[in-house]
Amino acid sequence: MLAQSLVATLFAVMAIACPEHEFHSRALQKRAEPGNMTWAYEASYDWARLSPDYVLCQDGTQQAPIPLRLDQGLSLHHAPSMEGYNRNVSGSFYNWGYGPAMTLAHPEGNFTSLPHFTFEEEKGQNVTVYMSGWHIHAPADHSVQGDRSKAELHFVHVTADGHPRAVLAFRIDPGSHDSEFFNQMTELVSYRDGGKRIDVAYNLDLAILEANHLDEFWTYKGSLTSPPCTEGIRFFVARQIIFVGVEQMRAILRVSHYSARAEQEVWQHEINV
Ligand SMILES: *[C@@H]1O[C@H](CO)[C@@H](O)[C@H](O)[C@H]1NC(C)=O
Ligand SMILES: *[C@@H]1O[C@H](CO)[C@@H](O)[C@H](O)[C@H]1NC(C)=O
Ligand SMILES: *[C@@H]1O[C@H](CO)[C@@H](O)[C@H](O)[C@H]1NC(C)=O
Ligand SMILES: *[C@@H]1O[C@H](CO)[C@@H](O)[C@H](O)[C@H]1NC(C)=O
Repeated sequence: MLAQSLVATLFAVMAIACPEHEFHSRALQKRAEPGNMTWAYEASYDWARLSPDYVLCQDGTQQAPIPLRLDQGLSLHHAPSMEGYNRNVSGSFYNWGYGPAMTLAHPEGNFTSLPHFTFEEEKGQNVTVYMSGWHIHAPADHSVQGDRSKAELHFVHVTADGHPRAVLAFRIDPGSHDSEFFNQMTELVSYRDGGKRIDVAYNLDLAILEANHLDEFWTYKGSLTSPPCTEGIRFFVARQIIFVGVEQMRAILRVSHYSARAEQEVWQHEINV
């Protein structure tokens, strides 16, 4: 099973889709039910027909993974200024169908109490975004110098009114030590346990710390062409890989599902230095 998974990781062709982290504290008591998604991952080529809300889909396809190179230049602008990550933030831990995920608890319709960061989108125009959740893709969505990591962690951020706006992306690979961020997770929910949710509180700053505080990163503005197909998402991809213990890596891959990924790539992007 494990060997099979690792081989599948190496050869899987993937598309990028992200779960929607729609969640507020009242929903903590009301468990989400599995299988009620209005879209099907496997039907990616047909997203635009599934729901009128998804008409933005099917624009801008590109080969996976998104290649990043050092000679493209690491970013000198747009440095995110972060606040509120270094504490235990409560939420709901589950599997979004393709890997571990967590949606952060907040008062309904009010995201401003969540960890947040500010970045300069354009000269003189600062944008503040609030973290609504995180999830893992396996294998990674980005490659650096042609090297694709085993997995990638996305911290998804929304505007004050809850619209997806920015993603902090951390590549994950096996290393010599356990990751403190992943050590917080005593149990990883498998993609086979679709409906299972666990109330947790994690310190999200540990991941940021393990990625050297994003002191070096690539950034680009892209669009999700998988549901909800939001345009104008700013990505920050940390240069520093988060290294996890070999057993942690195995555990993450064991609960992640990558064999059913669609072939089409789904981002448009332009590197900014
Ligand atoms: C989810 O789907 C089931 C039937 O498959 C239905 O009974 C249930 O009410 C749905 N739940 C939500 C939240 O839509
Ligand atoms: C978060 O909770 C853990 C376990 O309860 C505790 O050890 C840790 O000190 C807490 N971290 C912060 C930043 O409060
Ligand atoms: C949102 O919640 C924060 C505290 O959690 C509160 O200070 C603020 O007034 C709330 N904003 C709105 C619009 O309700
Ligand atoms: C934008 O944020 C940066 C750093 O956080 C700050 O130095 C700058 O003054 C801000 N600009 C505006 C227009 O608020």
